Amino acid sequence: DGRPYEIDQMISAKRIAARVEALGAEISESFRGTDRLVVVGLLRGSFVFIADLIREIDLPCEVDFLEASSYGNDTTSTREVRILKDLRGSIGGRDVLVVEDIVDTGHTISKVMDILRDRHPRRIECCAMLDKPSRREVDVHATWTGFEIPDEFVVGYGLDFAQTHRNLPFIGTVRFTGEAAK
Ligand code: PRP
Ligand code: MN
Ligand code: MG
Repeated sequence: DGRPYEIDQMISAKRIAARVEALGAEISESFRGTDRLVVVGLLRGSFVFIADLIREIDLPCEVDFLEASSYGNDTTSTREVRILKDLRGSIGGRDVLVVEDIVDTGHTISKVMDILRDRHPRRIECCAMLDKPSRREVDVHATWTGFEIPDEFVVGYGLDFAQTHRNLPFIGTVRFTGEAAK
């Protein structure tokens, strides 16, 4: 809406890297021995996290992507999540790791996990970089979470504000400045 704002760093690139390394180690241990792992990124927010995470997973894996519809600013509880871009491959009988940037109300990840579970993977888990439990509307949680954060608007490391700032190497919060903020 054109209001001026500044971005304050919340989680540094260094802290993110350390956490991603630890997550990769836990995930590798959990899936140890599999020869059928598919890591699925949810577009667009997860693309930075998935790129870093897969390089910390020391198992053979495929990488695939899926895009679910965004419900924008709709705040009703009857949110519909549809698939806009589906996976290229089949996940029947596979071990699936779904990668998300953030679990907020939980509608997106909950619906995507339901849709993917219907395809009968052998196992399906989720790893989310960020979790905002205070905003949850659906009882869902990721198997692995990078950081639990308070209810603030976050950008960077894949997360956008009106489609910008996904390229910031850190995770920051948006703070509105000037007269409009008062
Ligand atoms: C954001 C975020 C998650 C989802 C979380 O995606 O990347 O996918 O919302 O919200 P929820 O838990 O309330 O469902 P968005 O729809 O903004 O699309 P993007 O990933 O392309 O930015
Ligand atoms: Mn998203
Ligand atoms: Mg977004």
